[in-house]
Amino acid sequence: MSDINLNAPKLFDLDGHIAIVTGAGSGIGQRIAIGLAQCGADVALLDRRTDDGLAHTAKHIEAAGRRSIKIAADVTSKDSLADAVARTEAELGALSLAVNAAGIANANPAEDMEEDQYQTLMDINLKGVFLSCQAEARAMLRHGRGAIVNIASMSGVIVNRGLSQAHYNASKAGVIHMSKSLAMEWVDRGVRVNTISPGYTATPMNTRPEMIHQTKLFEEQTPMQRMATVDEMVGPAVFLLSGAASFVTGVDLLVDGGFCCW
Ligand SMILES: NC(=O)c1ccc[n+]([C@@H]2O[C@H](COP(=O)([O-])OP(=O)(O)OC[C@H]3O[C@@H](n4cnc5c(N)ncnc54)[C@H](O)[C@@H]3O)[C@@H](O)[C@H]2O)c1
Repeated sequence: MSDINLNAPKLFDLDGHIAIVTGAGSGIGQRIAIGLAQCGADVALLDRRTDDGLAHTAKHIEAAGRRSIKIAADVTSKDSLADAVARTEAELGALSLAVNAAGIANANPAEDMEEDQYQTLMDINLKGVFLSCQAEARAMLRHGRGAIVNIASMSGVIVNRGLSQAHYNASKAGVIHMSKSLAMEWVDRGVRVNTISPGYTATPMNTRPEMIHQTKLFEEQTPMQRMATVDEMVGPAVFLLSGAASFVTGVDLLVDGGFCCW
């Protein structure tokens, strides 16, 4: 027993951490932002939404007894991201955690897809994650510590049957491999980078027209016979960001109810 550190901090404890979450005004990003606060972090909430999405997230964080700030910004703008990180550090403290969940989805047969539809999605889902990681890591590398989780998708691993979304699938495969690459660039400077790849998850994203009629089918195709709830994305995110994952970097954690096994 003598080599066991009994004074180690509690696993999954995020007390004293300052986090930024993109896409924090809805769905997976919103729920994870609240989950980080429930585990002790203060959280900067970033989204381009102008409705009450961020206010809703902030209300829950306040109820958890933690601080938050709301930042209206677009992840395709590197200047806005630099400002967001600077504001986070000025108002909350040194940034140590980040979850990049901002993303969009749509579909179109490849032979009909206009360049604009392809490019807009790639700019948000892939370049937006790169620019977010870059802005966040610039601060974390200065402090010599940090952990980043990027929300990819099982669509970065498999092709969703019945959905014509080559651009989306490619963007998510890109997020997974880009995250591994960043993990290796920063591996010896205290910054870990991992991805979570959700399966079908009940969020507003899945109310888009091409999904509504497919929801039942998706549930049947998932070995667990249901979609994930956003609550079920919190544990994996907290694990990857916390000291419990101190030796975990460059990993893609599938949270898909077994989908990719079949
Ligand atoms: N819902 C699913 O089944 C599912 C499955 C796998 C992966 N994902 C991924 O999870 C992430 C979150 O999706 P969700 O289902 O919670 O969707 P959602 O639409 O509920 O939330 C996405 C949020 O990102 C924000 N956003 C979009 N573009 C932005 C931009 N340019 N700048 C700033 N904010 C922006 C939106 O305003 C929105 O609040 C996405 O990356 C998505 O691809 C979702």
